[in-house]
Amino acid sequence: MPKITIAIHSYRGGTGKSTTTANLATALAMLGHKVATIDLDLTSPGLHVIFNVGQSMLEHTLNDYLYRRCDLKDCVLDITDRLGIPNGRLYFIGSSMKPEEIAQLMKEEYNEMLFKQIATTLQEELDIDFVIFDTHPGLVEDTLMAVLSSDFSIITMRMDRQDISGTYLLIQILRQFGKVCYLLINMAPPELAKMANLSEEISKTLGVPVLGAIPFYDEVLAYRSKGVFILHHPQHHYSLQILRLAKTLSSWR
Ligand SMILES: Nc1ncnc2c1ncn2[C@@H]1O[C@H](COP(=O)(O)OP(=O)(O)OP(=O)(O)O)[C@@H](O)[C@H]1O
Ligand SMILES: [Mg+2]
Repeated sequence: MPKITIAIHSYRGGTGKSTTTANLATALAMLGHKVATIDLDLTSPGLHVIFNVGQSMLEHTLNDYLYRRCDLKDCVLDITDRLGIPNGRLYFIGSSMKPEEIAQLMKEEYNEMLFKQIATTLQEELDIDFVIFDTHPGLVEDTLMAVLSSDFSIITMRMDRQDISGTYLLIQILRQFGKVCYLLINMAPPELAKMANLSEEISKTLGVPVLGAIPFYDEVLAYRSKGVFILHHPQHHYSLQILRLAKTLSSWR
């Protein structure tokens, strides 16, 4: 069965990339898959917060691997049991939260092959089905390289006109590189999310398939990234939509 590498990306910040990564990865694991999530937001990591992984739990980070201080599998943390996920496996590769290490990495140049190599190693050595990169927003180089190295990207977007015009630009750029991308509308105002043809309209405007339109939920925001929302509120509409998305991705293998 093919193994899939996905970059969760967005043009603007705060569109829900890390929240989507954590919940979608968990949902894919719950469907029985082996999933690895990688925090590639090297300058402002955040995924570890949602997974409740403290720096002390990370013996090695992606930074150590990038500086050849360890093997890739040394930075892989199995968080399946800690999170109480009943099926599959969920792994996390964190990046450093040390200011000096973040500053050091900001001076580096990255290439697409490096990220491709990371995904391939995980797929071959740990038999991972889905590698998911959580990225930094916008068109910064490390993020772009991760996006280019993935099989496809899922671009999260709010229904704000600044997001829509920026996302249009992002899609045009990715198209220049021949990259496949899908859109996920997130935090849609509830009255817009109710429109039956919202996804269709946005898909027509931006020229890419829309995987779904998730409304803004007070409960998700109020949860304040304290954990993986779908594990604690499995019957919430947000969780059901994430599960539906996971089933779609699962059917693509
Ligand atoms: N559908 C939603 N409804 C309500 N709040 C949401 C929803 N999705 C995400 N959020 C909240 O929005 C905030 C930003 O989400 P998140 O950190 O995942 O965004 P991000 O794109 O990763 O941000 P950054 O670009 O800074 O990395 C968080 O407080 C999160 O809980
Ligand atoms: Mg983030």
